[in-house]
Amino acid sequence: MAAAAEPRPFTADAIQGLLRTRALGRELHLHPRLASTNTTALALAASGAPHGTVVVAEEQTAGRGRLGRVWHSPAGENLYCSILLREVGSGAWLSWLPLMTGLAVLKTVHAAAGLQPSLKWPNDVFIGSRKIAGVLGESAGLGTPDAVVVVGIGLNVNIGRESFPTELRAIATSLAAEAGCRFDRAELLASLLLELEACYTAVTPEVPAALREEYGAYCSTLGRQVRVSLAEDRTIEGRAEAITEDGALRVIESGSGRALTIRTGDILYLR
Ligand code: BTN
Repeated sequence: MAAAAEPRPFTADAIQGLLRTRALGRELHLHPRLASTNTTALALAASGAPHGTVVVAEEQTAGRGRLGRVWHSPAGENLYCSILLREVGSGAWLSWLPLMTGLAVLKTVHAAAGLQPSLKWPNDVFIGSRKIAGVLGESAGLGTPDAVVVVGIGLNVNIGRESFPTELRAIATSLAAEAGCRFDRAELLASLLLELEACYTAVTPEVPAALREEYGAYCSTLGRQVRVSLAEDRTIEGRAEAITEDGALRVIESGSGRALTIRTGDILYLR
């Protein structure tokens, strides 16, 4: 259990002292402030940093989310981390990586706080109708031997509800806001990295049906009537029916009944 008044300082030594992983976090860079941990991790990748390198920041000045959004990243309260993965291969495994990351975050949140989170396709973690964590996967050199994927995770930990900017107050939450106590971020990060390593090992090189089913069991998007915002201001509406073998969302379009395969898009729940 990571619930605590954070007696332990959030330092690289504290995090590494708690690590039980084989590779993830064995090389760890903790910065007081970065533009974006994903940017730093991609730069480290370009200069040869090993598989499993983790970049953490106390604060991000240009934290980014999916679809060009900003990730609110104030100092000292939350987790902002990026994990560098090498030998990532190709195909379905790659498409499942961000989804599996969302699943690992969900399990960590559940184990730490006893909360019952859900997943909004592809990899948002929610408590009820509020988002607690998001995942941003970025890559370089795919299709070459030097291919890398950087998985960035933002998890709201100790930020109070009143500290979110007004526009996020109704739609975002944190562990502390939900559980009513503060959490030890070093312990949380160590648990998250262990969970991630288990998920990544399980999906190499194929995504086992059991993991896909587990993702589906937590995915609140399935069975919903949704509006999907696609590129170039296009939207479609329909019923989210299934997750495909390569991690896409299958939507049955209202009216036409056509089955559409969504690989990137913003999902709004209509009911
Ligand atoms: C989303 O839900 O839109 C994804 C949010 C991802 C935020 C994390 S915080 C750590 C890493 N660095 C970034 O700039 N973004 C990701």
